Amino acid sequence: MDDRALIAAAREAARHAYAPYSGFRVGAVVVDADGKAYSGANLENSAYPSTVCAEAAAIAHAVSSGARKLDTVAVACIDADEIGYPCGNCRQMMVEFGVDRVLVDGPDGHVEHTLEELIPHGFKFAE
Ligand code: THU
Repeated sequence: MDDRALIAAAREAARHAYAPYSGFRVGAVVVDADGKAYSGANLENSAYPSTVCAEAAAIAHAVSSGARKLDTVAVACIDADEIGYPCGNCRQMMVEFGVDRVLVDGPDGHVEHTLEELIPHGFKFAE
């Protein structure tokens, strides 16, 4: 899948979001080192801190399917007119699985960042 198709797939994934409290439906697609894509959407909870972000859901989907090295994350919110960058917790989750680059949908098309730009010096135990 090329980058535009990944963003389109993230937007499609956002349609499955469960976001009755914020009204902010987010979708994410992660691509692993073998080129396999896994999607996720945010799921909210009446106990607000129990909410799971779209990126976290997609990473859980990939890792629980056997992936260990992730290359790319694409994220899109279908309810915002501003760009919605991944939260800090999701950035740290991306560090764990070696994500290289992050595509973020926005009103003027998507932007691309390296994960290092989004979270310099992310935490990792020494290998
Ligand atoms: N959200 C995500 O899914 N990803 C992010 O990176 C930021 C926020 C979700 C969580 C919550 O359901 C809603 O957006 C509002 O914060």
